[in-house]
Amino acid sequence: MNLDSFRSICDYVELDERNAAVVAEFRPLAEPHFESVVDDFYATIEAHAEARLVITGGREQVERLKGSLTDWLGSLLSGRYDQEYLDRHARIGRVHVRIGLPQHLMFTAMCRVRVHLTRIAALVLAHDPALQDEVTITVHKLLDLELAIMLDSYREDLSERQRAHERLATIGELAASVGHELRNPLGTMESSLYLMERLFDKLGVTDAQVHKHLQKVARQVEQCNGTITRLLDLARDRPPRREQVRLGEVLRETIARMDLPPTMGVSLDFDDRLQVWMDPAQIGLVMVNLIRNAGEASPGGVSVVIQATAEPGGVAIFVRDDGPGVPEQVRPHVFRALFTTRSQGTGLGLALATRIVEAHSGELTLERSAAGTVFRVWLPAPEHD
Ligand code: HEM
Repeated sequence: MNLDSFRSICDYVELDERNAAVVAEFRPLAEPHFESVVDDFYATIEAHAEARLVITGGREQVERLKGSLTDWLGSLLSGRYDQEYLDRHARIGRVHVRIGLPQHLMFTAMCRVRVHLTRIAALVLAHDPALQDEVTITVHKLLDLELAIMLDSYREDLSERQRAHERLATIGELAASVGHELRNPLGTMESSLYLMERLFDKLGVTDAQVHKHLQKVARQVEQCNGTITRLLDLARDRPPRREQVRLGEVLRETIARMDLPPTMGVSLDFDDRLQVWMDPAQIGLVMVNLIRNAGEASPGGVSVVIQATAEPGGVAIFVRDDGPGVPEQVRPHVFRALFTTRSQGTGLGLALATRIVEAHSGELTLERSAAGTVFRVWLPAPEHD
C-alpha cells in the first residue's frame, strides 16, 4: 500500500485532524493501562491452541512481543498518520507472513484490543462522555485501518513469496535439465583440452599463441562449469540441515574455496566465538552469492566486510561492500530471479540466497546505507523454528 492508497482509506473512514487530536489527548491517559491490554493479548494467544503454535521462541519471544505491542499501541494513538507510520505498520503484516500467522487470528486478536481500548476510554474519560464517544469512534477507525494495512502487506508479501517460489521452481527444473545436458559436452571439452596439451608437449609445440588459446578455452570451460554448478544449486531445493556452528569457521572455509581475484578483499569483523543455527553448506552458498555479487558490481576491485551480531531471537549477518551501491530504481528488483543489470551475472544468485535464508525462517534484506551495498541476513535462533 502506498501513501496515496493509505490516505484514500483514511478518507473513506473519515479519519480527520479532530480524530488525530482526540487520540493524542487520550494516549497519555491510556498509557498506564497498556500493560493490561498487552497481558490480555498474549494470555489469549497462550490459551488458544492454534495461536499458541505460532509462538515458537518461548518466554523470551513473548516478552519481546509484549514490548512490540506496547510500542505499537503508542504509535497507534500518536495522532500522526504519515509515511513513517505506514512503513512501520506495514512491516507487521510481513513479519506475520514470516512466522506463518493465519490471517483470521489477526482479526480475532484485533477484537481483543478493540474491546480493551474502548473499555479504557470509558474508564478514563467517564467525566467527559462527548470526548469518550469521539475517542471510541476514532479507535474503531484506527483499528480498522490497521487491519487494512496489515492484511494488505500480508497479502502482498505472501503472493510475492509464492510468485518467487514458483518462478524459482520453474527455473530450477529448467536449470537441472540444461545443467545436466551441458555437463557432458563440457567434460568432453576438458579432457580433449588436456589431451591436446599433452600432444602439443609431445610434438614440442612451443608456440605461445597456441598455449594462450588453449588457456583461453580452458578458462571459458571453467566459467561454464561454474554457471552450471550455480544452476544445479538452484535446482537442488532441499530443506536445511541445521546445526549450531561457529560462523567464523564456516565463512573462512567458504571464502578460501572461492578463489577470489586479488582485486577483491573479504574480511570478517565479529566475535570468532559467535555460533549460528544454520546449514553451513547452504549459508556458505548464500555468502558466496553475496560476495560474488559485490565483485560483479565492481569489476575494478572491491572490499567486503562481513559483520555479525547476536540479536534477540537470532543472529544478524551484514555483508558490506564499498562498491557503487544499488541504484534506487533497481532496489525493488534485486531479489527477483533472472533479474540482472550486468552482462556477466545470471540473475540467480540473490534469488537463490533468498530462498535458502527463507527456508531457515530468516530474512535477507538490502539495507539502506550512505555508501556501497549492505545486505543483512537474519537467521533465527533454534527455539524459533
Ligand atoms: C492485532 C493483531 C496484532 C498486532 C497489532 C500485532 C503486532 C505485532 C508487532 C508490532 C510485531 C513486531 C513487528 C516487527 O518486528 O516490526 C509483531 C510480530 C509478531 N507477532 Fe504479532 N500482532 C498481532 C497479532 C498476532 C497474533 C494473533 C500472534 C500469534 C498468534 C502474533 C505473533 C507474532 C509473532 C510471533 C511475531 C514475531 C516476533 C519476533 O519473534 O520478533 N501476532 N506483531
